[in-house]
Amino acid sequence: MSEVANLGLGLVGCGTVGTGVVRILQSSPDLLTRQAGKRLTLRRIVVRDPGKVRDTDLSAWPVSTDLTSIISDPDIHAVIHLVGGIEPARSGIISLLQAGKDVITANKALLYSHGEELFSLAKSLGRTICFEAAVAGGIPIISAVNTALTANEIVSIEGILNGTSNFILSRMLDRRQTYEEVLQEAQARGYAEADPAMDVDGTDAAQKLVILTRLAFGTSVSLDSIVRQGIQHIELLDLIVAAELGYRIKLLAASRLSQGGLEVSVQPTLVRADRSVALTSGAANFVAIEGNAVGVLKLSGAGAGQLPTASAVLADVVDYATGRAALTFAAMLRMQDRTPIALQPQEELTRRQYLRFTVADQPHVLADIADILGRNGISISSVRQDETEDRGDDTGVARLVIMTHRTTEGRLRAADAEIAELRSLRGPRIRMPISD
Ligand code: NAP
Ligand code: HSE
Repeated sequence: MSEVANLGLGLVGCGTVGTGVVRILQSSPDLLTRQAGKRLTLRRIVVRDPGKVRDTDLSAWPVSTDLTSIISDPDIHAVIHLVGGIEPARSGIISLLQAGKDVITANKALLYSHGEELFSLAKSLGRTICFEAAVAGGIPIISAVNTALTANEIVSIEGILNGTSNFILSRMLDRRQTYEEVLQEAQARGYAEADPAMDVDGTDAAQKLVILTRLAFGTSVSLDSIVRQGIQHIELLDLIVAAELGYRIKLLAASRLSQGGLEVSVQPTLVRADRSVALTSGAANFVAIEGNAVGVLKLSGAGAGQLPTASAVLADVVDYATGRAALTFAAMLRMQDRTPIALQPQEELTRRQYLRFTVADQPHVLADIADILGRNGISISSVRQDETEDRGDDTGVARLVIMTHRTTEGRLRAADAEIAELRSLRGPRIRMPISD
């Protein structure tokens, strides 16, 4: 290849994803140079603890805790910022933008909470922020929405946006492992957030969905305004019962136009076992996106992990080097000026439901629950209770699974409030929508 210019890069954060970035830079320099039209030259690395033993050799670069070493290096044009959480990531990125550096980040928590602030600062400074890796790891969904689907009105986005929870749900069923065992394995594999509660309580998937909703529908929503539920109370029993009924349980994130409004939810959901989303297992993510012209596109692949996420980060770096990123970022900001779409009231969300109760094995318990559902206008589609031990007293516990016909979130909430008062309850109440 003839002589090419250098593009100087800084790296802040060299954990799971940062290490992947270093590995790809080391293993594929010629490919990246051809794609970028420039030699990608990593000049400095900043971490929290330079003394930490790492599984990749960083001796080729100055490694420090000092962000100003990057800020004051005039040969660094763009900074790959791979630190999680809000602070000091937010202030670090602000300092970098103010110093004239463009930024590539994978931090969805930060973009969820401060994306508008950072984007507007970047715009005012003539800088670019790239964030493909922030949603669905290695799957190019940001690029699909921001470039490939620009001739479409987006109708819906639905999918699995958290690798850790999908890994947990898949492994629990396939290997009959406990929730705690599988969560530890997901952490060891580098899928989970520093605080894995965000993976399992639906926060991480919801933050990603909010970012996609902003891009696809020009509408900002807060986590509090959407129906959000995690997987932490799901037991192996639920996964097995769902499988026996022909379903898989997936933490489904969905944002769709409905009756002129926007329905946004993140919930463990029973999906028919033969659907593509149900077949997405392990740490994989899945996104089905519907455009009014293109129809439904389905993308699936690694949603977390070192190299898949680094692949998305370096795609951003290449886009930055070629100048594509600046054009896309400017177009994305123009699209943010659309009139927002009102959220559908949560109470009006209408779906079939899976309800599971752990109750005293006593007379009239099933009748009480059926009565409450009936009085709230909820029609039962099936009831299942496995045979319990005949103890001759009232100390036994029964697990009751009820599938309902389509009903509204409002009716369910009202019924649930009444059921919560029953003295026969012996464990948490589980409820999940069914997506046939
Ligand atoms: P990680 O393994 O915990 O690494 C974080 C890195 O940030 C570490 O190298 C740490 O330094 C460094 N760091 C922390 N505080 C710092 C500070 N004050 N100044 C400088 N460096 C600091 O995290 P990760 O999994 O790579 O995730 C990075 C980002 O990517 C997060 O926003 C995450 O949500 C996102 N993401 C992760 C994945 C994934 O699969 N892991 C996928 C998509 C997006 P030390 O190494 O010295 O501790
Ligand atoms: N913790 C996240 C997940 C990483 O499990 O999906 C990818 O964003």
